[in-house]
Amino acid sequence: MLKVGIIGCGKITQVRHAPEYAENPNVNLVGYYDEDPRRSRAMAEEFGGVAFNSAEELLSSGVDAVSVCVANVAHAEMTIKALNAGVHVLCEKPMAATMEECEDMLKAARISGKRLLIGQNQRLAKAHQKARELIINGEIGRVITFRTTFGHPGPEGWTGMKNSWFFDKKRAAFGTMADLGVHKTDLLHFLLDDEIDEVTAKIATLDKQFPDGSPITVDDNAYCIYQTKKGAVGTMHVSWTFYGEEDNSTIIYGTKGVIRCYHHPKYSLIVESPNGAKIYFQLDQLTSNKDQTSGGRTNTGVIDTFVSALISGEASYLDAEESIKAMRVIFAAEESAHKGSTIHISQ
Ligand SMILES: NC(=O)c1ccc[n+]([C@@H]2O[C@H](COP(=O)([O-])OP(=O)(O)OC[C@H]3O[C@@H](n4cnc5c(N)ncnc54)[C@H](O)[C@@H]3O)[C@@H](O)[C@H]2O)c1
Repeated sequence: MLKVGIIGCGKITQVRHAPEYAENPNVNLVGYYDEDPRRSRAMAEEFGGVAFNSAEELLSSGVDAVSVCVANVAHAEMTIKALNAGVHVLCEKPMAATMEECEDMLKAARISGKRLLIGQNQRLAKAHQKARELIINGEIGRVITFRTTFGHPGPEGWTGMKNSWFFDKKRAAFGTMADLGVHKTDLLHFLLDDEIDEVTAKIATLDKQFPDGSPITVDDNAYCIYQTKKGAVGTMHVSWTFYGEEDNSTIIYGTKGVIRCYHHPKYSLIVESPNGAKIYFQLDQLTSNKDQTSGGRTNTGVIDTFVSALISGEASYLDAEESIKAMRVIFAAEESAHKGSTIHISQ
């Protein structure tokens, strides 16, 4: 049995990490730490284990692995502390707040010989896995272009707080571009079996305000034109101002057909041929923020993937070496938006 702890006991721990560890037969959930002790105590009461007074206390308690689920700016600090203590880490996305921190996390994993995985759960969604297989097998020919979107009404619905830390540059480091953009950027790498090597971005704060009426200090919309190494060109739009249904769709246009992922309420994957024929796949549906905050929950597979990687020792889709490539694109997009020019990314 793996002894597992959780650092940061907010929403993602409550709806994903703690319940998914509790359901995994190879895990003994032994403890929690949060700077707000009420939150770690609540997790210990609901799922068993100890509420520790510090991250150090938790890390020296004999745990084999931890999830790092704190605010973005503390990801690197907690992850490096855990790796240096000889503990495997599953860190939530976005990997960290700066490129230097991301590199330092990878370095700490290499030196400690411990695993570092990042919670890029979109790779595990069934329609995405099937779409990747079809694209790699050449079912839609050469990928010419793509369009990916992730938009919802904003993280205040998720955390239940109008003044969410997600809006504060000092704690979040970035807005939609990293909160949602890192999901879709990483997903494009995964689906296309390719890497983005050029970005032109417009990143803006269009609507969100703090309760006092001042604009939030991170972006609420980001638009990117991406070019990949294999020559495809497409777009990504991420937004916290879709004040209606969540849109979490991706469409890939190839020389021999089109693949639509999570673009239809019933069929999570649709494959279209140039002659008009369509194949409909009824796989899973992505869990929306609205579903999760209203108590609905599906197992995302992130925790099971982490646990399997630790037990088997095999490489994982969620290894940080993969996720860091998306972070390079995110920082390049920020540079592009700032300079008003196209930025080349060297992976
Ligand atoms: N994979 C996904 O789809 C997904 C979805 C939501 C959130 N997340 C990520 O999970 C992380 C947590 O998000 P959340 O929605 O649970 O936020 P949250 O505000 O609900 O929870 C964060 C928790 O961390 C604690 N915390 C913050 N800084 C800390 C520190 N330095 N030391 C100890 N505790 C600290 C807070 O007290 C809080 O309880 C974020 O990085 C977020 O981007 C990922």
